[in-house]
Amino acid sequence: MEKMILMKPDASFAEEIRSYREEFLKNGDSMDGTASLRRDEDPVVWLKNVELYADKETVPSNFVCATQFIYVREADHRIVGMIQIRHELNEYLSQYGGHIGYSVRPSERRKGYAKQMLQKCLPYCKSLGMDRVLVSCIDTNIASRKTILANGGVYESTVYEPNEQINLEKYWIQL
Ligand SMILES: CC(C)(COP(=O)(O)OP(=O)(O)OC[C@H]1O[C@@H](n2cnc3c(N)ncnc32)[C@H](O)[C@@H]1OP(=O)(O)O)[C@@H](O)C(=O)NCCC(=O)NCCS
Repeated sequence: MEKMILMKPDASFAEEIRSYREEFLKNGDSMDGTASLRRDEDPVVWLKNVELYADKETVPSNFVCATQFIYVREADHRIVGMIQIRHELNEYLSQYGGHIGYSVRPSERRKGYAKQMLQKCLPYCKSLGMDRVLVSCIDTNIASRKTILANGGVYESTVYEPNEQINLEKYWIQL
């Protein structure tokens, strides 16, 4: 079985971070769970921002502290996915965004990586003192819904997010 590693990103992954971003841009796809990657063309800038988000002292105002993980295939050091854990919920996150955002690069989808990645993050959430996590997905995102359900997500409600004009399904996973 292939070995997969959930880890924090560092500069040794600069080229992988760049290619992950480019694949999403080429695909016109949503870069969920990647912090400021859409905006940050330079991986060094992105890594710096990830660091700022991780620390209460430096997180931008209106944001909560968050930990960024990458999901790496050991055999070729490919970043197949990214997942971000928000340490607490502010008003926006509690209504819409939830504790966790994630994505898998288009060329690596439908191999079970999202399900694994979410599962491997849950002990970390528990270690932060959470006893349950909120995860949400757009109501038309079948893959994300299945990812959440496979990890024990229990449906709470569907809410309309007016800025992006989307319906979001909210699920709770007990830790
Ligand atoms: C959602 C996403 C992370 C899923 O990643 P993935 O690695 O392909 O997901 P998995 O392979 O773990 O599959 C999870 C489940 O969804 C199913 N699935 C995956 N892609 C699917 C698709 N396009 N259509 C229908 N079902 C799909 C899988 O068969 C699996 O179902 P199962 O539990 O019955 O086996 C990925 O599509 C993605 O990055 N999308 C863009 C960003 C995004 O939407 N993030 C989620 C925000 S809430």
